[in-house]
Amino acid sequence: MFKINTNYQKLPGSYLFAAIGKKVREYSAAHPDKKVISLGIGDVTQPLAPAVITALHGAVDEMASAETFKGYAPDLGYEFLRKAIVEGDFASRGCDIQPDEIFVSDGAKCDCGNIQELFSLDNKVAVCDPVYPVYVDSNVMAGRTGTYDPKTETWSDVIYMPCTEGNQFVPELPKETPDLIYLCFPNNPTGSAITKAQLQEWVDYANRVGAVILYDAAYEAYISEPDIPHSIYECEGARTCAIEFHSFSKNAGFTGVRLGYTVIPKDLKCGDVTLHSMWARRHGTKYNGAPYIIQKAGEAVYTAEGRAQTMAQVAYYMENAKTIYNGLKEAGYSVYGGVNSPYVWLKISGSMNSWEFFDYLLENANVVGTPGSGFGPSGEGYFRLTGFGTRENTIEAVERIKKL
Ligand SMILES: Cc1ncc(COP(=O)(O)O)c(C=O)c1O
Repeated sequence: MFKINTNYQKLPGSYLFAAIGKKVREYSAAHPDKKVISLGIGDVTQPLAPAVITALHGAVDEMASAETFKGYAPDLGYEFLRKAIVEGDFASRGCDIQPDEIFVSDGAKCDCGNIQELFSLDNKVAVCDPVYPVYVDSNVMAGRTGTYDPKTETWSDVIYMPCTEGNQFVPELPKETPDLIYLCFPNNPTGSAITKAQLQEWVDYANRVGAVILYDAAYEAYISEPDIPHSIYECEGARTCAIEFHSFSKNAGFTGVRLGYTVIPKDLKCGDVTLHSMWARRHGTKYNGAPYIIQKAGEAVYTAEGRAQTMAQVAYYMENAKTIYNGLKEAGYSVYGGVNSPYVWLKISGSMNSWEFFDYLLENANVVGTPGSGFGPSGEGYFRLTGFGTRENTIEAVERIKKL
């Protein structure tokens, strides 16, 4: 008789966005006349940039002829894309990253979820609280998190690093020493950013205690302030302690197209073993690469034309974030984020918890957001709204909230 991985049974409830989707479907079925606006899930709404579309068409045509047809991609991804990435995201920022340290993938979520496979089960994981749920849940599935306490909504073997108004949503170094540290800046869900000096402290700390930082840079394109690092490799010493995840989802609208990459510097070692060689082995065994067509589309993002067009999309979403931020502020809410991030983190006033506020907003303004508690205990009392909607819907949603 087969046996299941019982770690899956430990996962509480359903995945956050599935729970939200269910509530919205039920509400819409009961109130078919209401126009519900979602500023909840972090999906984009703008079509792909013209330069990306042209590259896609060109690559599709290449597939139609025997001379230019492409089959399996190279394990790490096509060199044309890895070179464009290095030039556009690292060399231009003074970061020492080489093309063979880039692993092209079909997005950051899989890589963030899969990376924990490289580490033994007795590694201690530290996460920000609130946090993008994938980091914790993937470790739960692996059996690295101990037991769940439904009262505190925490795992016994996870170090939670509260991110609150008090620390401007940037965690302090933990008292207990972790082995694996997940950091995500600009942050989902709080919309906060980390300065280079603050991130340098984390890099120094990780090198000192022998920890690995798993740095999620999915939102770096939204950085608008000068002192905020776009990559952890802008910090000295990061090559020996950090893995970095990137996504084409939020900077170029690839959520449905799927492309991302992970950086593992060859200097990142446990004894003689490089994490780079382990991830290469894993990639070779379990993954057959992002499609050629999509990698060509990714390359187009780094052309002058592609850059200008995708940055215009980012600016569009940031204008939405500003509309939300300013509108809610006018309505008397305390709001955070929205400056280097498409996410606005609203503090709920009064006695409602974040799921109660979710219901209140859905029922009274027909607006959907994400309850902060879904991201961890320190998210309780907060609510996430995103700038990824259309301009029209964003303006309407904010007007509705202001009228409550
Ligand atoms: C912090 C963070 N990392 C990664 C991802 C997933 O990115 P991708 O679409 O590349 O899988 C998301 C998506 O919302 C995210 O918020």
